[in-house]
Amino acid sequence: MTIKIKTPEEIEKLRVAGKLAADVLEMIAPYVIPGASTGELNAIMHKYMTEEQGTIPATLNYHGFPASSCISINQVVCHGIPDDKKTLKKGDIVNIDVTVIKEGYHGDTSRMFEVGEVKPFASRLSKVAHECLWLGIEQVKPNATLYDVAYAIQQHAEKNNYSVVREYCGHGIGSEFHEDPQVLHYAAPELKDIVLKPGMVFTIEPMINQGKAPVKVLGDNWTVVTKDRKLSAQWEHTLTVTETGYEIFTLRTNEKPVLP
Ligand code: MF3
Ligand code: CO
Ligand code: CO
Repeated sequence: MTIKIKTPEEIEKLRVAGKLAADVLEMIAPYVIPGASTGELNAIMHKYMTEEQGTIPATLNYHGFPASSCISINQVVCHGIPDDKKTLKKGDIVNIDVTVIKEGYHGDTSRMFEVGEVKPFASRLSKVAHECLWLGIEQVKPNATLYDVAYAIQQHAEKNNYSVVREYCGHGIGSEFHEDPQVLHYAAPELKDIVLKPGMVFTIEPMINQGKAPVKVLGDNWTVVTKDRKLSAQWEHTLTVTETGYEIFTLRTNEKPVLP
């Protein structure tokens, strides 16, 4: 495993790509309403990326993935395939995950949306998953390890009687979409050996389940759902390690840390 340390020139390109990815999520927010289809949301984002931003949607054709975003509703953990026949309904919680490529560098981010009025138990899961992301981010500084990040996330999820998905993780990111290291969100001992250094760039993207951790992949070979069909929530940022802590590349306008 080799973790690339990015040059200042690469960091600047990743900063630009990250901001563009964040802009896509800001742009799509008003469209995430009851009755909208996930296919139509994907089409709006695709057009915005390719025509307004001049970015390439990284997920499109990535290992055969057929769309420019992943849209994952309720029990879908990740990699939901946008579909004109799949319509959002009041009370849904939905994750939209976008990755753009600009000048060869990637920006990857996702957030939850509540569709209309949502039941308190669903809202609470989304909120705790968001806190998990921020608690993980706050661990990031030189000489901390990925174990510190994972431990903070898992503790908070389990304290709330939720579980952390094991099969999918965050990742290094740069000129490639998925680079080393794997950023696990549960406290695996081997993470103690991954020491953070300035210039590393990676995502943190915990998937937190309302019920048990196991997941399964549906027959389309992409859609990941909770095995017990209870809800799942995920939030994702791309960030770099700085001399003093971290810099988030995918921060949205007026976004503030969400901590318990
Ligand atoms: N954006 C996802 C991530 O956070 C990856 C999606 S890959 C796809 O890493 F092929 F499913 F689109
Ligand atoms: Co993503
Ligand atoms: Co990612």
